[in-house]
Amino acid sequence: MLRLSGLHTSYGPVKALKGIDIEVREGEIVCLIGSNGAGKSTALMTISGVLKPDRGEIEFEGQRIEGAAPDKIVGLGISQVPEGRRIFPRLSVLENLELGAFTNNAGYGKKLDHIFSLFPVLKERSKQPGGTLSGGEQQMLAIGRALMAAPKMLLLDEPSLGLAPIMVSKIFKTIKEINNEGGTVLLVEQNARAALRLANRAYVLESGTVKLHGTGEDLLHNEEVRKAYLGE
Ligand SMILES: Nc1ncnc2c1ncn2[C@@H]1O[C@H](COP(=O)(O)OP(=O)(O)OP(=O)(O)O)[C@@H](O)[C@H]1O
Ligand SMILES: [Mg+2]
Repeated sequence: MLRLSGLHTSYGPVKALKGIDIEVREGEIVCLIGSNGAGKSTALMTISGVLKPDRGEIEFEGQRIEGAAPDKIVGLGISQVPEGRRIFPRLSVLENLELGAFTNNAGYGKKLDHIFSLFPVLKERSKQPGGTLSGGEQQMLAIGRALMAAPKMLLLDEPSLGLAPIMVSKIFKTIKEINNEGGTVLLVEQNARAALRLANRAYVLESGTVKLHGTGEDLLHNEEVRKAYLGE
């Protein structure tokens, strides 16, 4: 469904991605793990069109998309939840969700009902400014907003960051639910153990390159991964 081939992206002189190859098949949850600065966010932002790659290819459903504008990429069915859950703090919860639907307003009421069933708290708080929600609730809102575009593929950048354990398991459960409903997910996570358990397949990024890849199960048992990312 999505294929990155030989993808290079830099910030001026800083080479953040040095030729990565990643594949996500339809219906999968694929996870990217790696240390701080490995290039995980850069990979997601290059897919979503926020960053333009220096070279390499990104193919989505048979179409080349590298370098395309972000709204075009959303229109093709890829929605990103950026790191740090950037919601609009002064807009209400409902207005935040409405903005998520701007590229694809079809079935608005149905999508809204679906998001409220995934996250009932957003319904209760729908008139409240987004900025007054707790961190975990803001993460739910950020995911809800991305889902309002009815994406085929969801890109999630560290959705569990800074959340209490109970919120973390809620977010992971929801990712599984979205996947069970047919959504394909590319997930970046620091919480490597939980992410590898959830993922069909995973890639380990190191200094802008793919160090290892395999099934979530394989990587959970990989010696290097256990030492470097699972604290064993
Ligand atoms: N705006 C920027 N300008 C210059 N360098 C940047 C910029 N953003 C990221 N970088 C550099 O690019 C590299 C990859 O960063 P990236 O944010 O993709 O890492 P990451 O794997 O998401 O890390 P983290 O786990 O800390 O979020 C790092 O060396 C980082 O310092
Ligand atoms: Mg990051």
